[in-house]
Amino acid sequence: MNKIELKIVKDYDEMSQVAGKIMLDVVKENPKCTLGLATGSSPIGLYKYLINAYENGEVSFKKVKTYNLDEYCDLPVTHPESYHSFMNTNLFSHIDIKKRNIHLPSSEGTDLQKNCDKYSALLNKATVDMQLLGIGADGHIGFNEPGTSFESETLIVELTEKTIQDNARFFDNDPKKVPTHAITMGIKNIMNAKSVLLLASGENKADAIQKLIEGAITEDVPATCLRNHSGKVIVIADKAACSKLKK
Ligand code: F6R
Repeated sequence: MNKIELKIVKDYDEMSQVAGKIMLDVVKENPKCTLGLATGSSPIGLYKYLINAYENGEVSFKKVKTYNLDEYCDLPVTHPESYHSFMNTNLFSHIDIKKRNIHLPSSEGTDLQKNCDKYSALLNKATVDMQLLGIGADGHIGFNEPGTSFESETLIVELTEKTIQDNARFFDNDPKKVPTHAITMGIKNIMNAKSVLLLASGENKADAIQKLIEGAITEDVPATCLRNHSGKVIVIADKAACSKLKK
């Protein structure tokens, strides 16, 4: 049985509104909640929704803790396209979250395995109430590319050619400027979240969504692990992202 709750929406804006409300309710119900956060194009509208709610005095993030999925390797954290910068620009600098409650994996230093172990240890101590995810055109979640073990914990990964091409839009459309490696929460870390909210918009995601919802559960399509999740998994996808669904 496929336990994923799929909500099909019109477009990116509707996806952001529907998803934004779901995440806002999590924070309103438990102001001390822990959120797993993502970067990329998919969550930007949702983050705007949360910022708007904060500015309207509807919600406070003072006691919220966050853990991000991933960070590029070989890119200074101060680079405008680092995920540290992305999160500050698109969310953290606009809300009242405490710096000490924000966590992202670090790709700084020479012993990256140590960084991975440290992040996994942090995650294993935390309980993520809701993990936000985008999905790669190749079915990746976090930067867990096809073939990553479902048992993986925070790890260093080599990005696929497809992911580098897709992310070139953030680097002057020049794939050579895109980092080749990243540090990412593993599949096992992601699966430890109590619930998952996955966003997908646009035709480029149609194959991945078809495989996620209707394909076999396989490490070749990392997102399909979510079908084995023990909690709530909500996928909010727009019509274009659902255009290859058979049923
Ligand atoms: C981002 C992340 C990635 C993205 C995915 C989709 O932190 O972990 O898995 O969610 O690459 O990216 P967008 O949303 O830019 O299409």
